[in-house]
Amino acid sequence: MPIENSEDHYGVVAILLHWSMALLLVGLAGLGLYMVSLPDVGFNTRKITLILYHKQFGVLAFVLFALRLCWRVTQVLPKPVGHLPDWQMIAARFVHLCFYGLMFALPMTGWLMSSAAAIPVSFLGLFTLPDFIHRSDHLFSLLIGVHKWLGYALILLFAIHMGAALRHHFVFRDDTLRRMLP
Ligand code: HEM
Ligand code: HEM
Repeated sequence: MPIENSEDHYGVVAILLHWSMALLLVGLAGLGLYMVSLPDVGFNTRKITLILYHKQFGVLAFVLFALRLCWRVTQVLPKPVGHLPDWQMIAARFVHLCFYGLMFALPMTGWLMSSAAAIPVSFLGLFTLPDFIHRSDHLFSLLIGVHKWLGYALILLFAIHMGAALRHHFVFRDDTLRRMLP
């Protein structure tokens, strides 16, 4: 299986990055929704531990995103399969573009939010990231709101993207999903 993309198939690197990040982002969104639903009463260590995991894996997602972006801009993009109507090609490209925006903006707002609350962010326990902005309660609550709505947007686009991929595979029976598989 070729390492690089070709005109009609994704290469190993793009496939590995796609599926590992899909798993990571879906996990982060699920964990995010779950941890905020836990009560704040007292000193809820379970909630705090889960938030710490969420932050560390969120930073990992950012590192993978940077690698993916570098790889993506140096590769050819497989051509759309068959004769898709223009609107479908535009919609697919738009969703992919939004995913790249969200893969950047979600970790950034998470990191900024932690800076505004003066809570350090660790990268997988190896080192601590610097604080980006000064402590500010106003910015903290603003960034929580932005991060939350970006998370909801990711979940919505994920549902559309997955639905479209499955529809191509089972209804149109074309190669769209197959070429993203090894
Ligand atoms: C792609 C990566 C990420 C995704 C998909 C994601 C997703 C989410 C979601 C869905 C929530 C729940 C929002 C709500 O319903 O209120 C959340 C909360 C949160 N996220 Fe993230 N997140 C990511 C990265 C990060 C990073 C890198 C940090 C910090 C360094 C972070 C810090 C937080 C915190 C502190 C909360 C709790 C906010 C609160 O108390 O309401 N996230 N995240
Ligand atoms: C079960 C879940 C998923 C399925 C079945 C799936 C399927 C696919 C397929 C078949 C393609 C190729 C589309 C084409 O060539 O036009 C693709 C591309 C893509 N997918 Fe997914 N995907 C899933 C989850 C995700 C998630 C969670 C993300 C979030 C970042 C994502 C981001 C992308 C992006 C950005 C592309 C464009 C190619 C690239 O730049 O890597 N996918 N996906």
